[in-house]
Amino acid sequence: MSYYRIDLVFRLIVAACRMNFVLNVGRRLLSKMRQCSRLRLLYGLCFLLLFIFICTPRRVAGGAGAYPSMHWARGRNTPWTGFQGKCHLPPSPKLKPVNHVDDSLDLGSRTDVKTCTTWGAPIMWDGMFDPDVYDKHHIKMGASVALTVFAIGRYLETYLMDFLSSADRHFMVGLPVTYYVFTDAPENVTGVNLKAGRTLETIMVKRHKRWQDISMMRMETIADAIQTRIRHRHRYVFCMDVDQVFVGRFGSEALGDSVALLHSSFYNTPQETYTYDRQPNSTAYMETGDFYYHAAVFGGTWQSVRNLTESCLRGIMTDKRNGVEALWHDESHLNKYFWLHKPSKVLSPEYCWNFLNGPSREIHVKRLLWAEKHYDILRS
Ligand code: GAL
Repeated sequence: MSYYRIDLVFRLIVAACRMNFVLNVGRRLLSKMRQCSRLRLLYGLCFLLLFIFICTPRRVAGGAGAYPSMHWARGRNTPWTGFQGKCHLPPSPKLKPVNHVDDSLDLGSRTDVKTCTTWGAPIMWDGMFDPDVYDKHHIKMGASVALTVFAIGRYLETYLMDFLSSADRHFMVGLPVTYYVFTDAPENVTGVNLKAGRTLETIMVKRHKRWQDISMMRMETIADAIQTRIRHRHRYVFCMDVDQVFVGRFGSEALGDSVALLHSSFYNTPQETYTYDRQPNSTAYMETGDFYYHAAVFGGTWQSVRNLTESCLRGIMTDKRNGVEALWHDESHLNKYFWLHKPSKVLSPEYCWNFLNGPSREIHVKRLLWAEKHYDILRS
């Protein structure tokens, strides 16, 4: 029986159980009401609310795909199937590229969230993967990872130590990792105790006056560092903001050719809310897209990250020449890049959660948390 048939049968059984449950509850309430007239109104109200709750279809988290009418891929070779909350791909072959460790993913294990994109990239949620399978695979392949982070001005004293010490506990544990710290004050990067297999390099960078330029010009700095150092030593690169703290496993399951992160503020909101750049004269301009990605975390092989950073830099420099600045700076350019060059892996917001979002049913594990932002002090 095909994946979709099993799904349909399962849904029919669930619907029948729900209907049976509603009827039973209704019967019981009716008999109670007959016994006590004062409770009639209250029971009636409760029954109505219960009925509405059970019958209302819940929205599925995971980006624009949860809103089929807006999805870019409608009408293309992978049409929307209507199976919201599950991966639309047949079980085998599940993903591209095939014969990859990502084939071990259980795309059907999470029914509350989208677990793959229309172009066949997995969206990584807790419960879909076996961490040991990933770790063993990447250790066997001799993978090593560069983690780039910018600690400029007061960002260094405010965030860097927590970022690094938590990365040591949770980021790619078991693999060799080098932290590349870009800073305007290398002499202040002191007292970091790293675990075995971890090294740190500080790289002096020029401090731009505007925080927007600090953020945008990191694309140039990362591209340079990949060209001059990283590509000779590491297969994978992750680029992260420093104002974050690791609180759970951020492991080798996150490695991939080209890796994007779902922004935790938009992963379950309609596409109209996405803060793409909407200025037609900016190279980052987007009318529509797939998801809203967060520039606080992106990665991939050094080749992919080099392509991404160089492309974003070209867009930023063209915009500067044309006197325009994209709404969310490098993040707007990153969104445009991933719209044109689809990522091969998408990380769920578990991989960068904003505690201000409050609790969420879909987030079973938090791996990286936004630290408290102090923009008033740090960006002045
Ligand atoms: C904010 C975040 C910004 C940017 C923006 C996009 O929550 O702090 O860095 O990602 O969302 O709308």
